[in-house]
Amino acid sequence: MAASAPKRKATGFENAIEQLTPVELTIRGAFPPWLSGVLYRTGPGTYSIPSTSDPSKVTEIQHWFDGIAMHHRFEIHPASHGNPPRVVYRSHKGAPDLERRIADVGEYPSNLFAFAQRQRDVDPCASLFKKFFTTFAALGGAVSAMRNTDPDGKLSSVSVTMTPDMPGIRRPDNEKIYGTDRSTGPDVIVAKTDANVLQVLDPATLEPLKVLSYEHIDPRLSGQFSAAHACRDAKTGDFYNFVEEFSMQTTFKLFRIREDNGKVDVLARICEKDAPPTYIHSVTMTDRFVILCVWQAHIKQYGLSLLLTHNVADAIDKTWHPERPSVFYVIDRHNGGLVAKYKTDPFFAFHYLNAYDDPETGDVVIDLSVYPDTTVIDMLYLDKLRKPRLERVPWMGRVRRFRLSDPTKASAENQGTTATLDAKVDFTLPQSAAAELPTLAPGKHHHTYQYAYGITQRTASDDSLLSDGLIKFDMHAAAATASHGDLEGKDSKYAKIWHVPDVTPSEPIFAPRPGGTSEDDGVLLSVALDSSPEKGAGQSALVVIDAQTMEEVARAEMPVVYPFGFHGVYTPNGVAARKSAL
Ligand SMILES: [Fe+2]
Repeated sequence: MAASAPKRKATGFENAIEQLTPVELTIRGAFPPWLSGVLYRTGPGTYSIPSTSDPSKVTEIQHWFDGIAMHHRFEIHPASHGNPPRVVYRSHKGAPDLERRIADVGEYPSNLFAFAQRQRDVDPCASLFKKFFTTFAALGGAVSAMRNTDPDGKLSSVSVTMTPDMPGIRRPDNEKIYGTDRSTGPDVIVAKTDANVLQVLDPATLEPLKVLSYEHIDPRLSGQFSAAHACRDAKTGDFYNFVEEFSMQTTFKLFRIREDNGKVDVLARICEKDAPPTYIHSVTMTDRFVILCVWQAHIKQYGLSLLLTHNVADAIDKTWHPERPSVFYVIDRHNGGLVAKYKTDPFFAFHYLNAYDDPETGDVVIDLSVYPDTTVIDMLYLDKLRKPRLERVPWMGRVRRFRLSDPTKASAENQGTTATLDAKVDFTLPQSAAAELPTLAPGKHHHTYQYAYGITQRTASDDSLLSDGLIKFDMHAAAATASHGDLEGKDSKYAKIWHVPDVTPSEPIFAPRPGGTSEDDGVLLSVALDSSPEKGAGQSALVVIDAQTMEEVARAEMPVVYPFGFHGVYTPNGVAARKSAL
């Protein structure tokens, strides 16, 4: 059995079947009667593309983050009038033109920028290196350069996060009549990534409608990078993010897009020596502040190395520099302007769990899943991920709580200057409680909170892949445990686990019970792949887990293997509720 295991286990990292025609899933267990809405998810769907002229020649995607986009939709109908609950699934490729181009050319297009794909015959623009500013002009147009060879952006693969009804973006075809549930669902879904590229999707069919950039929304928002994880004010619907423009002195432009009129406010321009060009996947905020953390994933040569590599992973300086702190920039999110900055020992991260203003002290509390360096990026190449679990090493981050002393007070004490203060670390949870793809109850983003959820990786004894369970953190209990000493081995006090042998879950997305009375009153929705021997090539299912008990209550089994993806969003029916979705 062990000899055949590796092939069976890799199915979540192989080409997925596109399900254009909606298919009804097989329900097991008791779906919560109140559960009614749509779960959207996105991630890679294609990893191997045979050449059109010679199908024996296959272009292989090398890194998980470069798998070519596929978008997914699970429509959940509650039981009614004696009919049982239904879950209807469909998917749509996100970049079919890119797949066709690779098939026609027989390789990954060398003019495109990727996360980690190593292309042949990349033109390093050597002549441009002789003229720095000309070079930066070229780099500054990296996205537009791609558009020049791809005017409609159809070669863009955008599949990291999804935002329903993002401010500043309207459907390109307002007259178009489409799918069901238009009266209650979003008008558009916008797929985002870490480049300054956005893809507009039809919310019913997931058909890609248009590719654009933040620069199209406002010309001031030029730049190469942006965070895939933006922030949304649950009350106003306003949207917050940054774009990062490389230059001899890179500029991070923090901005807001207003929900009511789609207009952009540039809140701050961070252009400082300790904020070099950096790969930054997320931005966070509180009631008072937007927070940009420039951790250590610096792009070499002021960003110019991207021109040489055409991929982010190889352009990052992998030599760890312990003398270079990671820096939190705290920006007034209502009036704009840098308020304070804080440094801490260097780390790398992808995701925040949350951030909030401490109501008792005025401090800013920031929870992150942190890594000691950027090694994790190299651990997510597909040749490593496809290996049997026992041959791989743990890759997941540890949860760390940072505390920034009240920025308003700090600013006043510094008489308005932005001297760099020290961030305090309240605690770091042990590797045994490692977590990634963290999520919360939607109303708790940017506010005080108690519970967070994520995927985890605890055992090395079964056939699960990326992760082997879901974890629920009680952050109050974690803080209390930390205040009494060492956290190691104490995870039973602050963590609950959902684990089934040989099953690999995806990001758990919290669906709140309408009228719920506690923060964890609801269910987690996670698409999980069962790789147990009796499942053959594996079977995926949308699993419904009681968020209070972390016990499975129902599942909807899929006829196809769902590829391991990144992020999604749950939109309950009803316009009022959807604003809280990120
Ligand atoms: Fe992410």
